[in-house]
Amino acid sequence: MELKNKTAIITGAGKGIGKATAIALAKEGVHLGLVARNSADLESLQALLTDTYGIKVYYISADISNKTQVDQAVKTLIEKLGSVDILLNNAGVAQFGLLVDMEPEQWESIIQTNLMGTYYVTRAALPTMLKQNEGTIINIASTAGERGFATGSAYCASKFAVLGLTESLMQEVRKSNIRVTALTPSTVNTELAVNAGLKIGDEDRMMQSEDVAELILATLKLPQRVFIKTAGIWTTNPQ
Ligand SMILES: NC(=O)c1ccc[n+]([C@@H]2O[C@H](COP(=O)([O-])OP(=O)(O)OC[C@H]3O[C@@H](n4cnc5c(N)ncnc54)[C@H](OP(=O)(O)O)[C@@H]3O)[C@@H](O)[C@H]2O)c1
Repeated sequence: MELKNKTAIITGAGKGIGKATAIALAKEGVHLGLVARNSADLESLQALLTDTYGIKVYYISADISNKTQVDQAVKTLIEKLGSVDILLNNAGVAQFGLLVDMEPEQWESIIQTNLMGTYYVTRAALPTMLKQNEGTIINIASTAGERGFATGSAYCASKFAVLGLTESLMQEVRKSNIRVTALTPSTVNTELAVNAGLKIGDEDRMMQSEDVAELILATLKLPQRVFIKTAGIWTTNPQ
């Protein structure tokens, strides 16, 4: 698919994988709607992208775990962009702990962001894609959505659920010319990985956000008649 002058909404665009993908799409001439909670991150990214690539960039500070904020943010971004051709459901949080030790509120907030946030944003953007009879939705799941591990109950449950949501939605909308893909990266060198204690050793040897952005770009560039259902992205340098 030719990406120039397409429109994309990216959640979690302030840092990490979302930011790297925003930069990669801007280089292709895609107009962007950016979402995260921290508006300073989004403001500086907007300045960088508009100055460097001359595309339209809008941003809204919103918490994807809050349905009201999501509805307002997505509506405003679609009005400003005029359409939404691409949705990258990327915003997410990771916290690990034994099930018996985690507070219910902490467990719930991981599900509320990673699963319910993905659902809220998709629910808000999908009617426009259905009207357009065209669109691509990419959900960032994780290897943690494919196998469980001790201390991962909340995060793994949220990412297993994102894979279930992705596959079900894919079956609902593929006849409407809408592609729905889940990517399942292993550990990526981002703040999320550092804060969750996943970054060990030499960071140059880790998979980088830009590597995931390249896979996202390649996925989007496939002809609209074809899509990747689920793709893992791993490193040749496991720590
Ligand atoms: N890094 C890894 O090893 C790895 C591996 C597999 C999958 N993933 C997945 O990849 C995605 C991106 O992760 P990352 O590693 O790039 O993380 P990151 O560097 O921490 O960036 C996460 C982004 O999401 C935003 N965000 C978090 N909670 C939000 C909320 N409630 N509402 C709106 N925005 C929110 C953050 O901004 P604010 O805090 O300003 O809101 C930030 O911009 C996540 O879904 C993660 O689970 C990561």
